[in-house]
Amino acid sequence: MKITFLGHACLQIELGTHILLVDPFISGNPNASHINIDKLKADFILLTHAHQDHILDVEAIANRTGALIISNFEIVTHYQGKGLEGHPMNHGGSWTFDFGKVKYVNAIHTSGFPDGSYGGQPGGFIIEGEHKTIYIAGDTALTQDMKLIPMQTSLDLAVLPIGDNFTMGVDDAIIASDFIECDKILGYHYDTFVYIEIDHDQAKRKFYEKDKDLMLLEIGESLEI
Ligand code: NI
Ligand code: MN
Repeated sequence: MKITFLGHACLQIELGTHILLVDPFISGNPNASHINIDKLKADFILLTHAHQDHILDVEAIANRTGALIISNFEIVTHYQGKGLEGHPMNHGGSWTFDFGKVKYVNAIHTSGFPDGSYGGQPGGFIIEGEHKTIYIAGDTALTQDMKLIPMQTSLDLAVLPIGDNFTMGVDDAIIASDFIECDKILGYHYDTFVYIEIDHDQAKRKFYEKDKDLMLLEIGESLEI
């Protein structure tokens, strides 16, 4: 499984021949101006919630690629109404797609669309494929619900928000890493806006002091698990 960070909360995941795109917010991210959304490949687009900084480029990319949108019922219905293909899910539910299995799990956040219309409840994803399992938390507070995850699965990597203000910050993400029993963390949802700027070295050191590994990728950089 190859994971490429495309800035903010956007990830591209390569699973065999399948390409998944998570929360595409690229054209509005000045730090990601070197990423061209017209060249991005996607077979599936996974959306954690309906906020602008997670959905901005969905229509452009889905219209061009025909990617299947996977999200909560309300978000998928919204895009189906615009003629796009979708697979609706809701919290606690799993589905096996061509690339592997996805579970939509709880997140504590909000999920209105930019125009104020209802975007259902926000979530995260557990994705299993090629004998690896990752957790993408989405925008969320630290929550006891995270303790449910290791009861059923053993994570190889977790992607956690660390920017604070709108989501968990570094200290809560360290506790989340205990709750999910995964010490290999890819941080996201930081630095894009003034409210979520963080000190990278301090964040990494805090994880290191708890025997955990916080990875921060450059935009466009990949890791493989
Ligand atoms: Ni959000
Ligand atoms: Mn966000």
